[in-house]
Amino acid sequence: MRACFLALFWLGACSPTGNAGGPYQIEGDAIPAPLTMETTDSRRGADLFADRDGAHCILCHQHENISVEFQGNLGPDLSHLSHRLTAAQIRLRIADYDAVKPGTTMPSYFRTKNLYQVDPAFEGQTVLSPLEIEDIIAFLSDDDQIP
Ligand code: HEC
Repeated sequence: MRACFLALFWLGACSPTGNAGGPYQIEGDAIPAPLTMETTDSRRGADLFADRDGAHCILCHQHENISVEFQGNLGPDLSHLSHRLTAAQIRLRIADYDAVKPGTTMPSYFRTKNLYQVDPAFEGQTVLSPLEIEDIIAFLSDDDQIP
């Protein structure tokens, strides 16, 4: 199963059932398997979260452990997110929120299929890399670790 997942990931080949948006397997309202086996770093995740040129999460969200002025309020406050969502649920929401709530304004950071108005130069590319998403999950699912 995992071997199949990894093979899919690298080859971009077949499309498992119930998986409309990209190279990951959705189960219920979550993506249980990490997108990469690389070692994650919640500090890097926090930096990405706050970086307006990177993941720009802070444009729409707030987080009490991020000391950036003018945090956004279009999306919910993501402090203490681990109290209400598992890492697997957070993974689906970052990768493909559209699979949770079609038409949401929350961008789908790892979706490669069924997107609209994609510049041909970026077709098939995800907004964030697997490790970037896992770093952000590490930050959001364990906010006690952060400074
Ligand atoms: C353009 C604005 C926007 C940006 C940028 C954005 N989000 Fe969101 N996000 C939202 C909105 C709006 C919601 C609520 C979704 C809904 O109800 O439709 C949401 C919901 C979420 C949720 C679910 C929260 C919950 O309580 O269920 C998570 C997790 C999340 N966002 C993480 C992120 C991360 C991580 C980033 C950066 C990689 C990010 N978001 C960037 C707008 C945004």
